[in-house]
Amino acid sequence: MTTNNTETNTPKEVSANDRVVVFDTTLRDGEQSPGASMNLEEKLRIAEALEGMGVDIIEAGFAIASNGDFEAVNEVSKIIGESIVCSLARSGLADIERAAEALAPAKRKRIHTFISTSDLHMKYKLQMSPEDVLQAVIDSVTHARKYTDDVEWSAEDGTRTDHDYLCRTVEAAIKAGATTINIPDTVGYAMPNEHAAMFRMVMERVPNAHKAVFSTHCHNDLGLAVANSLAGVEAGARQIECTINGLGERAGNAALEEIIMAIRTRNDLAPYDTNIDTTNITKLSRMVSQVTGFAVQNNKAIVGANAFAHEAGIHQDGMLKHAGTYEIMTPESVGLKESSLVMGKHSGRHAFRKKLQEMGFELGDNALHDAFRRFKDLADKKKDVFDEDIVALVDDQIRGNDHIKFVSLNIVCGSNVVASADLVLDVDGEQVQNKATGDGPVDATFNALKALFPHTAVLQLYQVHAVTEGTDAQADVTVRLAEDGKTVNGAGADTDTLVASAKAYINALNKLMVKREKTAPQALSA
Ligand code: KIV
Ligand code: ZN
Repeated sequence: MTTNNTETNTPKEVSANDRVVVFDTTLRDGEQSPGASMNLEEKLRIAEALEGMGVDIIEAGFAIASNGDFEAVNEVSKIIGESIVCSLARSGLADIERAAEALAPAKRKRIHTFISTSDLHMKYKLQMSPEDVLQAVIDSVTHARKYTDDVEWSAEDGTRTDHDYLCRTVEAAIKAGATTINIPDTVGYAMPNEHAAMFRMVMERVPNAHKAVFSTHCHNDLGLAVANSLAGVEAGARQIECTINGLGERAGNAALEEIIMAIRTRNDLAPYDTNIDTTNITKLSRMVSQVTGFAVQNNKAIVGANAFAHEAGIHQDGMLKHAGTYEIMTPESVGLKESSLVMGKHSGRHAFRKKLQEMGFELGDNALHDAFRRFKDLADKKKDVFDEDIVALVDDQIRGNDHIKFVSLNIVCGSNVVASADLVLDVDGEQVQNKATGDGPVDATFNALKALFPHTAVLQLYQVHAVTEGTDAQADVTVRLAEDGKTVNGAGADTDTLVASAKAYINALNKLMVKREKTAPQALSA
């Protein structure tokens, strides 16, 4: 064991064999998590950011699952140039054709087809015999190869599959043309030693194993997804499937940021190379959390609010003498910067534009004019304006292009009065107003909204975060609405928590309206 300290584990020279391919499935397996739905614009934003971070493969969706998924794969395919864009497909030929159609515009594309191979899944879920499943593996991979040379095959519930049968299916998939073989731990059941042994066993026993890249895909039901992924790589896998913040069904998938920082920080024991620029990690984490409304727990490794906070006196003392005493990674290495004071109410338009450009926002003249006006309003209300405030402000503006727009809100509330909200909205260019009461100001605001825009959607989540510190901080509110099995997340930011709440609810309603137009032909799960 080396006595490692901050940033000193210089990666040793890595051969092509030590290059680990990063396959991000935030937009597919991550989005399958109940309540984590994202709209097209959000998926495109995340896809661009994943590409910017250096992700090798972006799984953009499950093309046949819904029109929304098809559109997401298709639109991501149009804007992504460097990364490979991938769509999931079951073994049926229609699934594969739909995936190929969605991926048609992609510069570099991959079809990812899968079928269950464990006895349990074959018998109860598929109700197919092992011989029929084997034939489906061959047929699906052969069919996918007609559309692209880059075909991944996954043995769903692979870690609970009989070893002889797993080897037969893997050999058949490679023979049919699969270039990547993924053995998922679908139910998060594996232990690290066992997982490594399974990869070794398959690679040793399958005669054509050397013709494919092996891949890990671990779920986190026992909290072992990252450990299992790293164990798989140690055993010879060279692709890791993961999601930002570990987003995913149940306990989630292996977290990209944890795997990547483990490889980087312990490169002495994990001597692998990836293409990831780690300084993008914080940005991606915040983006995914904000879009899905899934808060990151404070003590979450790498991206939690406390991950780099050293409050205990003894730690602080050590840190002041030498950062390496308690810090094994620097905050800068994951793109975490001190909140920087941006500017005050006297800052000019030119400086504001420059600041936006530095933060990666390129706004047209009209949008810039609007953002600058909002910035001035904010600076009037809030003494210090930080980078995070500017991000919240621009995000809020991007969301503003909708059927229903917020105009104004006046609230009466207190310990001795019935709370009431007087709300004015702009619905398709026409101003409407309602005054409603409720059990507190938030309830009154939402009741006024329901009266102005009647709907049956159920409120599943209402969450408030402060964008920065201090009582004058902007509130960042998330609202989740569910209607007919569809869920949407809305967000809104303002120095007034109630205005932010109204904006978040309105944002969710606007998304719901878009979602209603795109009805899913079949709801599928992988
Ligand atoms: O967990 C799983 O088995 C999957 C497959 C579809 C790859 O997500
Ligand atoms: Zn999965």
